[in-house]
Amino acid sequence: MEKQLLLCVMFYYVFAIDLPPNFPKCKRSDPNLNKCLISAYDDSLPILAEGMPDFKLDTIQPIKAGNMTIGEGPGVVSVVQYYTNVEYYNLHLTSAQNCEATITDNEFRMIFTIFAKDISMHANYKLQGHVLVVPIFGEGACSITLKNSTIILDIVGEFFNKNNEKYVIIKTLNATFDPKKVELEFKNLFNGDTEMGAEMNYILNENWREIFHDVKQSYEVTISESYKRIINLIVKNVPYNDLFPL
Ligand SMILES: *[C@@H]1O[C@H](CO)[C@@H](O)[C@H](O)[C@H]1NC(C)=O
Ligand SMILES: *[C@@H]1O[C@H](CO)[C@@H](O)[C@H](O)[C@H]1NC(C)=O
Ligand SMILES: *[C@@H]1O[C@H](CO)[C@@H](O)[C@H](O)[C@H]1NC(C)=O
Repeated sequence: MEKQLLLCVMFYYVFAIDLPPNFPKCKRSDPNLNKCLISAYDDSLPILAEGMPDFKLDTIQPIKAGNMTIGEGPGVVSVVQYYTNVEYYNLHLTSAQNCEATITDNEFRMIFTIFAKDISMHANYKLQGHVLVVPIFGEGACSITLKNSTIILDIVGEFFNKNNEKYVIIKTLNATFDPKKVELEFKNLFNGDTEMGAEMNYILNENWREIFHDVKQSYEVTISESYKRIINLIVKNVPYNDLFPL
C-alpha cells in the first residue's frame, strides 16, 4: 500500500514540472486573452534565451536545427543543397504584433503575427547545380539573413491525459516568413575561387526574391519543426490547468 503510494508520487514528479515563477501565463477565461498572449510571447523569450534546464531546453540563441536538405527546385534554383549544423539566430529578439487564439477545454489554436527585424541562419553548406542557368558549386560556411520579416505562426494543439491530468501538445505548427530583404553569403564557392565566388554572391543577392522564393518552404519547415520541438518540451510537462488556468 505504502509502496504503491510512493510510486504514484514518484510518477507525478517524473512527469509534471513547475514553470519558473516569472514565466508568463494567461487565463483561458481572460476576455483579453489575445492581448495577454501577445505580451506572454515577448516575455517568455528572455527566459527561453536563458534556457530551461528543468525542461531539458537549451538556449534558443541560437536554435540548433540539425541538418537540412533542399532538392532541386522547379524555379530558378535548380541546386541540390545540403546544410549541416543549421543554427537560427536572434529569434529571441522577435516581437508579437498580433494574436488570434482559441483556448478552451476542447480546442487549442494560436495564430501569432510576429515581427523579426534581423534573423539569420548559419550553417555549413554543400551544393551543386544551376542558379538562373549559371553553374554553381561549393562547400563551406554560409549565412542567410532575413530583414524586417513578418512571421505567421499557426499553432494547433491536441489534448492528452497523463496520470489523470490533462495536457496539451502541439500537433501542427506552421511558420511562414515574409522578409522585406534577404542577404545571402556563401563562403568558399567554386573551390575558393574568390573572383567567381564574389560574382556569384552578387548574383544571388541581386536576385534574392526569386532565390528565396524557391528555398523558403524548406526553411519554414525546418524552423517550424524546431519551434514545435521547443514548445512541446515545455507544454507536455505542465498540466493544462497550470499552463492556461481557468
Ligand atoms: C548531419 O550531417 C552530418 C554530416 O553528414 C552527420 O555527421 C550528422 O550525424 C548529421 N546530424 C544529424 C542530426 O542528422
Ligand atoms: C527595416 O525597418 C527599419 C525600421 O522601420 C528601416 O529603417 C529599415 O530600412 C528596414 N530595412 C529593410 C531592409 O527593409
Ligand atoms: C500546415 O501545413 C501543412 C503543409 O503545408 C498543411 O497540410 C496543414 O494543413 C497546415 N496546418 C495548419 C494548421 O495550417
